[in-house]
Amino acid sequence: MSELILDVRGLNSGYGRVPVLHGISFGVASGENVGLIGPNGHGKSTLFRTLSGLLRAWSGTIAFRGEDITNHPPAEIVERGLIHVPQGNTLFPDLTVQENLWLGAFAKGPRAQRLRTVERVFALFPRLAERRGQRCRTLSGGERQMVAIGCGLMGLPKLLILDEPTLGLSPKLKTELRDAIAAIIASGVQTIIVEQDPEFLHTLATRFLLVSEGTVHAEISGEGGLEHKRIVDMYFGHS
Ligand SMILES: Nc1ncnc2c1ncn2[C@@H]1O[C@H](COP(=O)(O)OP(=O)(O)OP(=O)(O)O)[C@@H](O)[C@H]1O
Ligand SMILES: [Mg+2]
Repeated sequence: MSELILDVRGLNSGYGRVPVLHGISFGVASGENVGLIGPNGHGKSTLFRTLSGLLRAWSGTIAFRGEDITNHPPAEIVERGLIHVPQGNTLFPDLTVQENLWLGAFAKGPRAQRLRTVERVFALFPRLAERRGQRCRTLSGGERQMVAIGCGLMGLPKLLILDEPTLGLSPKLKTELRDAIAAIIASGVQTIIVEQDPEFLHTLATRFLLVSEGTVHAEISGEGGLEHKRIVDMYFGHS
């Protein structure tokens, strides 16, 4: 139990009176990187909103590093190091790259270290260093995604959740982003990554969960990457 960085048990939540998560349970062990796949509209982003405290859990529990965080305030959850980079474009368009990054470091600890962290972000994404004074509304989709991940890193995550980071990116940018995520993992940050393309994940994740109908329908794990075929088989239920 204490070896789990994240422990989700019987979580239910949804919007209004419409349930989306149906008692979802899973754990993430220390050192693990989890790939999350599943059909559209089946609750992946809803799960992350609930973990982050942005959406109320109706029942069930979420423990992070051994402590209960169920329905705790989002700012406190971020401060503990559980940081969620949401799906889509969530930057402040009229602020510059650097200003957006500063906002990722709003908690006390990260704020004190922000000069050091921002240099790490720029080392990881050199094209952001060149554009640090540029307003985010004028960035390309790929550059915005890099800023979004950079904002997450500015908060000094222990577990970084990336919700479809490659949405709309070219194959070349996808490869660049995969290398950057591999470097983030190598620096000691654990990840949960949602991705429609299992190929993108198979060298990053050590375990895959298939989320469907608001619950975990299947999972597979493998050391040092998983065969693409096994992931596809899981997806289509022919394992
Ligand atoms: N703010 C909201 N208000 C009402 N219903 C919502 C809201 N956000 C999502 N939903 C609904 O909740 C369900 C799950 O959506 P969610 O975004 O969690 O799916 P997802 O698995 O992340 O899908 P995708 O792969 O397309 O990102 C969908 O039926 C969706 O329409
Ligand atoms: Mg989603």
